[in-house]
Amino acid sequence: MNPTELEQKHTPVILRQGNGEVSVKVGLVPHPTEEAHHINWVELYRNKAVVERKNIEVGKPAEIVFEIPDLKPEDILMAREECNIHGLWESV
Ligand SMILES: [Fe+2]
Repeated sequence: MNPTELEQKHTPVILRQGNGEVSVKVGLVPHPTEEAHHINWVELYRNKAVVERKNIEVGKPAEIVFEIPDLKPEDILMAREECNIHGLWESV
């Protein structure tokens, strides 16, 4: 089943960039970052434990980089984000 428009704009996309850098983008279709409609924060989890929560400033792109210096290829990553209108979303 194809993702809905809301899913495409909200589901976090995780990208391992090497050297322990992990970028999380909201979402496949960029989410608005306006006062009226924006992403409050993004959280990254490694092996079900939270790594960090980072806020996203209004007006800045809804994409953020986390640093996990000892990240291993077998580590399982998951991200969550909160939209001020559409609530909580998590990566699959
Ligand atoms: Fe939204």
